[in-house]
Amino acid sequence: MGISAEEFKFVSDFIRAEAAIVLEPGKEYLVETRLGPVAFQQGMGTIHALIAELRTRRNPALVTRVVDALTTNETSFFRDVAPFEHLRKKVFPELIERRRAERKLSIWCAAASSGQEPYSMAMLLRENFPELAGWRVEFLATDISTQVLAKAREGIYSQLEVNRGLPAPLLVKYFKKSGLEWQVDEKLRSLITWKEFNLAQKFYGAIGPFDLIMLRNVMIYFDVPTKRQILGNMRRVLRPDGYLFLGTAETTINVDESFASDTLHTACYRVKAA
Ligand SMILES: C[S@@+](CC[C@H](N)C(=O)[O-])C[C@H]1O[C@@H](n2cnc3c(N)ncnc32)[C@H](O)[C@@H]1O
Repeated sequence: MGISAEEFKFVSDFIRAEAAIVLEPGKEYLVETRLGPVAFQQGMGTIHALIAELRTRRNPALVTRVVDALTTNETSFFRDVAPFEHLRKKVFPELIERRRAERKLSIWCAAASSGQEPYSMAMLLRENFPELAGWRVEFLATDISTQVLAKAREGIYSQLEVNRGLPAPLLVKYFKKSGLEWQVDEKLRSLITWKEFNLAQKFYGAIGPFDLIMLRNVMIYFDVPTKRQILGNMRRVLRPDGYLFLGTAETTINVDESFASDTLHTACYRVKAA
């Protein structure tokens, strides 16, 4: 039996409070398909029993499990191509030129999911900018979902996952076969620091500053006030000459006018001069 309107309201209030994710009415099927397997794994029998247990707030592990299940973690290597071309042709060459004296770069992948995006960037850096070998490159990758972060940290991907966007020469060079799967080599993995991080929290002052922030394909799940709050925080943790990437379907326009588009080819932004 499907969930009631009241149960759906409880779950949508819950995920909005925990992760700022908006679940509009009409998404009942999503709640049922995502939470049904959790109820089964937890031995609770039905989704109704799971929701009843969630209401008691007695079980922090269940809260984490349900947040994990309600996030959408779709990603792939070199997703959308154009942002990575812009990183290669313009953003990294410019940053390297401007940071030549300090020899330090700070990068944040703020909705890293299972790791394909940060690993794509790490390969792009290795392949195109060998001069960075002597630099301090700080590379932080975060996500609210502990489950996808665990996968990202391990760097193990199925054949299907590596077939999505990863050029064969890079697979051969940076991955090793592990049974039926592929694991990112230790050198590439050690470039990245993984951390659980909720973008809906107040984070100005807690991290940064960064030269480059990837905030791709996550703002679509938030309402406008949350997007505005997050972009305001991003502006403060981005160095004044830094770059912010959003997903292809996302924009700062009508949300935070202090950003200006850097190119017509992809969603890359810079803070406007004061
Ligand atoms: C669709 S994936 C995008 C992955 C990658 N950036 C890309 O573009 O391929 C969105 C990610 O945002 C994460 N997410 C959702 N709400 C979040 C929040 N409040 N704080 C941090 N991460 C969040 C999800 O767990 C998910 O892994």
